[in-house]
Amino acid sequence: MKQLKGLGWTAMALAAFMYSGAAYASEDTPEFTEAFLNDEATFARGKEIWFEQCTLCHGAKAYPGKAPQLKPWRYKPSFVYRRITKGFRKMPAWNEVYDKDERMAVVAYVMSKKFSP
Ligand code: HEC
Repeated sequence: MKQLKGLGWTAMALAAFMYSGAAYASEDTPEFTEAFLNDEATFARGKEIWFEQCTLCHGAKAYPGKAPQLKPWRYKPSFVYRRITKGFRKMPAWNEVYDKDERMAVVAYVMSKKFSP
């Protein structure tokens, strides 16, 4: 009986860990393949979202200093995805506004050679 009780706690701790950490981590960093990043339809959807939302703060016409100008050549897709998903300081999180596919599409747009703020 004692052993069973121990197992119960282990299972609970494991479940809690997977809920908070491990499960989140895979949602955290989806895979960005070259094929995905170069897909035309994805690019178009991402561009739409960029001009619908992101340009308010990051765009060429945004009030200077409101948000940093993006420097995609310095980023990895996973970094951009994390910032969009979770936000950071004054950068809002978008995980409740855009679903995963949409957030991935904006990443594809931002990382594209044709990106323009
Ligand atoms: C309400 C204004 C606002 C909007 C809208 C906004 N951002 Fe931001 N964003 C910020 C601010 C402010 C920062 C800087 C956060 C910091 O580092 O303190 C930032 C940072 C970032 C960064 C990290 C830049 C770096 O060099 O560290 C990325 C990437 C980014 N935003 C992408 C986006 C995308 C994509 C969208 C559209 C879905 C978006 N942002 C919409 C305000 C905004």
